Amino acid sequence: MTGSAEEIYQATCSAPVNIAVIKYWGKRDTSLILPTNDSLSVTLDQDHLRSVTTARADPSFGDLSSYPDADAAAAHLTDRLWLNGEEELIKPDGRLRRCIDEMRKLRAAKESKDPSLASLSKWGLRICSENNFPTAAGLASSASGFAALIASLAALYELQPEVSSSQLSRIARQGSGSACRSLFGGYVAWQGGKEADGSDSLAVEVAPKSHWPDLHALICVVSDAKKGTPSTAGMQRTVQTSPLLQHRIKEVVPERMAKITEAIQKRDFDTFAAITMADSNNFHACCLDTSPPIFYMNDVSRSIVQLVEEINRASEAEGLGKKLAYTYDAGPNAVLYAPKENMPAILQTIRHYFPSADFDDTFNILGNGANASHRGAQEPQGLPSDLPKGFNQGVIPVHEPGSVRRLIHTQVGGSPRVLERGAGSEALLKDDGTP
Ligand code: DP6
Repeated sequence: MTGSAEEIYQATCSAPVNIAVIKYWGKRDTSLILPTNDSLSVTLDQDHLRSVTTARADPSFGDLSSYPDADAAAAHLTDRLWLNGEEELIKPDGRLRRCIDEMRKLRAAKESKDPSLASLSKWGLRICSENNFPTAAGLASSASGFAALIASLAALYELQPEVSSSQLSRIARQGSGSACRSLFGGYVAWQGGKEADGSDSLAVEVAPKSHWPDLHALICVVSDAKKGTPSTAGMQRTVQTSPLLQHRIKEVVPERMAKITEAIQKRDFDTFAAITMADSNNFHACCLDTSPPIFYMNDVSRSIVQLVEEINRASEAEGLGKKLAYTYDAGPNAVLYAPKENMPAILQTIRHYFPSADFDDTFNILGNGANASHRGAQEPQGLPSDLPKGFNQGVIPVHEPGSVRRLIHTQVGGSPRVLERGAGSEALLKDDGTP
């Protein structure tokens, strides 16, 4: 952007949620957010779950060029940020500050090479971010949120393609570790790196969505009244106290990273599923091995594990291989991964054992139209006719209505999107720079 004084320097971007199949748990550097192990995730579709961020730079929000001394200037620069309608304090040593500062440095470098560019790096910022899913859904929003922040600043500052998505991921990582993986679509690895300065700790694409587009995800939002241990605090307690984590870092993860990467390359769902479930269990075992122990999964989570294991056992007994995989993050919600063609039977089975979950039928599986809402109390579902023959129906009881509150059906998705440059209907900021 070179432009005139009246021009509005603004960009609006969306970024996806990602759910890890090899979990990140533990930091070797808590300030730079450098992990103790590599991790790997599947990016989910932004049509269903996303964060949207608008970023604007304007001299009326503060202008560094009018202050000769950099420190005096910084004191006059006012960046402000709103998250889901509430203003967030940008703390001087906080994660938001670091991300914004790093992005501003990249813009300043671009401006110094091309003096005809508008001095956006010297102007204050207004940033507004929203998630299209309620935080009450129990889904982590920090990954998509920080990815959308970085994507919108990259678009505002016109940093790409000179600055690669992997380079941007290094900055997103400093907002929230898992956010670095949301800068890519498809299947994404976070290479933990070895350097003390974090220069080699970044995300890379393992395979694009187009390589294996038929992987679907069913998110089972499990009721949980009490708030669990936040992941930032929980993982460092594990680093400090769990001997099992050391084994995970040295032996378990390196071997699994290699194997699951190969499974993705071959679209080998059986191996992908086996490693995904084993790694979720190993991560939760490390949480249990923490002192004092951390419990994220609850009885409903464990029932879903038993159900999935029984479906797979019966299917394998018929020589048909695994039907689906479960994985759990730092909470009780299950994310079930499965090939698209298995989803109708999986959905019906879940709705049989966990009746009354709210469900928007994104892919029109129930035949009442795409996105038809199925809310609250409803008749218990029968089991699907195409379950494997030897399936033991008594493996878990039919649960109380609402044990699973909500089901979200989605699929593997693409990388962050630029929705709009300049002012327009997508923007989350009004003309005056407020939400
Ligand atoms: C269990 O990325 O939220 O979801 O880096 O401290 O912000 P911070 O942690 P965060 O941790 C995510 C942990 C996880 C596993 C994963 O996504 O890999």
